[in-house]
Amino acid sequence: MTTIGYVQVEPRFGEVATNLDAMRSLAAQAANADLLVFPELASCGYEFVDHAEAQEHGESASDGPTVALAHELAAAHNLTVVIGYPERDGDKVYNACALATPDGHQINYRKLHLFDREKERFDRADNPPPVVETPAGRVGLMICYDWYFPELARVLALNGAQIIAQPANLVLDKCQRAMFARSVE
Ligand code: ACM
Repeated sequence: MTTIGYVQVEPRFGEVATNLDAMRSLAAQAANADLLVFPELASCGYEFVDHAEAQEHGESASDGPTVALAHELAAAHNLTVVIGYPERDGDKVYNACALATPDGHQINYRKLHLFDREKERFDRADNPPPVVETPAGRVGLMICYDWYFPELARVLALNGAQIIAQPANLVLDKCQRAMFARSVE
């Protein structure tokens, strides 16, 4: 059996170090989980005004502070961690999430379906949604509004996902119920 922890956070916009400390404390309370999922853009907040501001707060997928925390928590608590963060890559910035396993493996996913004004803040991604073999099972990744498009969950299922980890910042009233539908499908 896999125990999944969902960590709800209330980030202070742009205060990454403070937010990461809060996430570290919350994770310690859920350390019995096998898989721990944090929200979309958990470490810095969601409401960027434009692309320049998102880029200013963007972090490297290889050694940024949020990815470092994912690895730290995965190793410290022997669990798999998924965290949403703004990923900067050159002059691009993506609404991304990182999955880290206890043995130091990392997979990155960039949100494919940008919601509403996210299209002004983030660059469009073209990566396929990944399915990752982890000690918690085969985990597929999507981010928030990706739920709206059944094809994405279907691709994850066809590629062997047993669990879909979905860092989210849900704003539409039907999202929570829709994810039940995606799971049943
Ligand atoms: C959303 O994709 N954050 C609604």
